[in-house]
Amino acid sequence: MRVLVTAGPTREALDPVRYLTNRSSGKMGYAMADAFAKAGHEVLLISGPTQLEIPEGVDFLPVESALEMYAAVERHIARRDAAVFAAAVADYRPATLSEHKMKKTGETLTLELVRTPDILGSVRSQFGFTGTLIGFAAETQDLEAFARDKLQRKGCDLVIANDVSKPGIGFDSDRNEVLLVFPDHTEAPPEDEKHHLAPMLVREIERIAAEKMAGG
Ligand code: PMT
Repeated sequence: MRVLVTAGPTREALDPVRYLTNRSSGKMGYAMADAFAKAGHEVLLISGPTQLEIPEGVDFLPVESALEMYAAVERHIARRDAAVFAAAVADYRPATLSEHKMKKTGETLTLELVRTPDILGSVRSQFGFTGTLIGFAAETQDLEAFARDKLQRKGCDLVIANDVSKPGIGFDSDRNEVLLVFPDHTEAPPEDEKHHLAPMLVREIERIAAEKMAGG
């Protein structure tokens, strides 16, 4: 299969030296890209800034902001058989980008933020993607209900949900505990290292893609 994977955080610039971001290390998305490549698939990894090494045998496209990631996905998704969205994309960005370093003025500073495009949410509706679509869901409560809502709203074949309030898993950890939310059922594999979970997730995605191609 030709697979697209998004990974890592995005950086939303305020001025030439400051930005808004989040704690995503990219480990989950890179583990997925690596597992797809090791299983013999052709992989394009679109990644926000991370400290990680690019997995062997993976085509790599670095981006910084949510808008850049949106443009990269729009440009590359058409010829993909499957797409996996593990990136932690900022939902808001500063309304304006200051050309010069912002100076200290008052005791408080109010920032105006505007919505970024929902990349995963655009894949079916805007980009016309008909392949296998896998989202992640980072939740702190009602994991299954919120993940199932994302699955339906964004036209996913599977949403991989993680409870990012649990210590030791999720953001910036080597381990994860995921809930696999399919259209008709849910599975809860045991917590494990991201590098052990990823090959199992790849096998699930291969199965879904094969079913779709067989018209099932
Ligand atoms: O990078 P690590 O440190 O290894 O951490 C892994 C992880 C916790 C980041 C990963 O497992 C994960 O949950 N990724 C999705 C994080 C997220 O932003 O979840 P969300 O519930 O806010 O978004 C739902 C889905 O929409 C995700 O597939 C996300 O990539 C996508 N999205 C969100 C916002 C946006 N503007 N565009 C998107 O495509």
